[in-house]
Amino acid sequence: MCGIIGYVGKENAVPIILEGLHKLEYRGYDSAGIAVLNEDGFMVVKQKGRLSALEARIKDHPIRGYMGIGHTRWATHGEPSDINSHPHLGSQKRIAIVHNGIIENYRELKEYLEQKGVAFVSETDSEVIAQLAEHYYTGSILDTVIKVVSVLEGSYALGIMSIDHPGTLIAVKKDNPLIIGVGEEENFIASDVPALLAHTNKVYYLNDKEIAVLTRDKVQFYNIDREPLQKSPETITWSLDSAEKGGYEHFMLKEIMEQPRVLRDTIQSALGSGDNRRIIDSFDVAAFNKIVITACGSAYNAGMVAKYVFERLCRLPVEVELASEFRYKDPIIDSRSLVILISQSGETADTIAAMREARRRGACTLSIVNVVGSTVARETDYTLYTLAGPEIAVATTKAFSAQLALLYILAVRFAGKLGRISRQQEEQLLAEIAVLPEKAAEVLENIEAIQKYASTCVGYKSIFFIGRNIDYAIALEGSLKLKEISYIHSEAYAGGELKHGTIALIEEGTLVVAISCCEPLYDKIYSNVEQVISRGAKVLFLGNCIKAAPSEKLAIIPLPKTNPLFSPSLSVLMLQLFSYYVAANKGLDIDKPRNLAKSVTVE
Ligand code: G6P
Repeated sequence: MCGIIGYVGKENAVPIILEGLHKLEYRGYDSAGIAVLNEDGFMVVKQKGRLSALEARIKDHPIRGYMGIGHTRWATHGEPSDINSHPHLGSQKRIAIVHNGIIENYRELKEYLEQKGVAFVSETDSEVIAQLAEHYYTGSILDTVIKVVSVLEGSYALGIMSIDHPGTLIAVKKDNPLIIGVGEEENFIASDVPALLAHTNKVYYLNDKEIAVLTRDKVQFYNIDREPLQKSPETITWSLDSAEKGGYEHFMLKEIMEQPRVLRDTIQSALGSGDNRRIIDSFDVAAFNKIVITACGSAYNAGMVAKYVFERLCRLPVEVELASEFRYKDPIIDSRSLVILISQSGETADTIAAMREARRRGACTLSIVNVVGSTVARETDYTLYTLAGPEIAVATTKAFSAQLALLYILAVRFAGKLGRISRQQEEQLLAEIAVLPEKAAEVLENIEAIQKYASTCVGYKSIFFIGRNIDYAIALEGSLKLKEISYIHSEAYAGGELKHGTIALIEEGTLVVAISCCEPLYDKIYSNVEQVISRGAKVLFLGNCIKAAPSEKLAIIPLPKTNPLFSPSLSVLMLQLFSYYVAANKGLDIDKPRNLAKSVTVE
């Protein structure tokens, strides 16, 4: 995820673009850049690091112009660096672009252009857009953009400037947001409303493959067949402040709601033509006799879920170790072990230490990481990236979901490579994973029941989570989420373990959250539910195979059907929402819970 902004008008574009980039920084902050067009041609400043670093460089070497584009980056292709930062220019320095999205066929396009003698300077997928635009340039920038987008596969929101059209800014999008802001003798493009609110509240929303041609005085719209379009502007009523979270009260809720898109992007990168796919395709899993997964916090819980999936499908032993324990336990690993490191930040000190210990002992390391170029990503033998975009709330939601998706795909593909499942079974399982984004969207369209139930739960001192099999693994994450943001004590147990101790804690008015997505074990978990109800507990029962009827003590929230192995991706959404609404009803600082940090870089 990245943020883009563009300006054409009566003012100097530079301060307007920088201010807009500040509002978009939540979309990415590993590098930033700006290009303006003036009588001397393009002036470009690009800088790795936070936006403040770009601002400092511009302060030392000021640039100005009445038209410009800016970008704040969350690296996906190519590490964060000055060269890989946007804007990108074609080799002839006649066209400049900023891009938010992923060009899936950039390799083919790059090869095609290289054969024609075009020299690329960056490792990004985005540069291909600028190079293609110069290659196809006909004298009409609109025709050129139409030709370029007709060959692009993937997602994009683009801002485009041409040296031959000094007062004309072009915008086009597919599957990534882009809005057009209308001012007095000035017009804007941006990824999101906050970047424009200081200047205008009149915006046009671009639909996929619609093209906007902006000059200082007007905005014209065209479809991909070059036919003019009539569009009506909308008036934004948000305050600058609330819009920074995209209208959500907290980043956590916004990130919960982003999960269908995150799942779609991440699954596509592993099943389509993305980098994750290439790594998985080439991976020789037959070289290993066991898998060890090590991570911290929620990432560890993702590993707990994955253990069930890998063992069931691959018939390979899987150990899940807390990264903080791993290096001190004299782990039994060697060159026949595959060690999987899971980390949103890629900078968690315990996970880094576990990774180095695994490498020291000769194991093969594979990481699942969200932050491109982070330490874990750089130092492991193989890296798969979750395409969750920047996660701002300390309590992870969307990165966790993306980790699960990649782990499922790995498990299915490994099982196929090992011959444990047939080609047909493999395809069937991957097809079930591919529809998870739609099912996740269905869950998130029906949040009233959990919201209402959670509002009655603020008074509990302790809440238990139970499940069996993979439902137990996801109960661990439900419990952690609740503790982190609501400060209510909570534990997760395998339902069958209740009778071995925990049931002693159940009394009148205790709350138990039970999960049931493993149909063959429904009777078992339901019997646990009855046991706790008969001892005075209230139960919130979440699942997709529940046969019981609700009662005064039993609230039921249904979930969509899916293969039990992949059901944690749906049940976790309800668990996240439950924690969120409990904490919201307690009026807590949800995005920055006390004592916690997003990335723990100390042991
Ligand atoms: C911190 C966060 C947790 C996170 C854990 C691992 O403790 O508060 O939410 O799960 O670190 O972080 P990582 O970046 O390695 O996934």
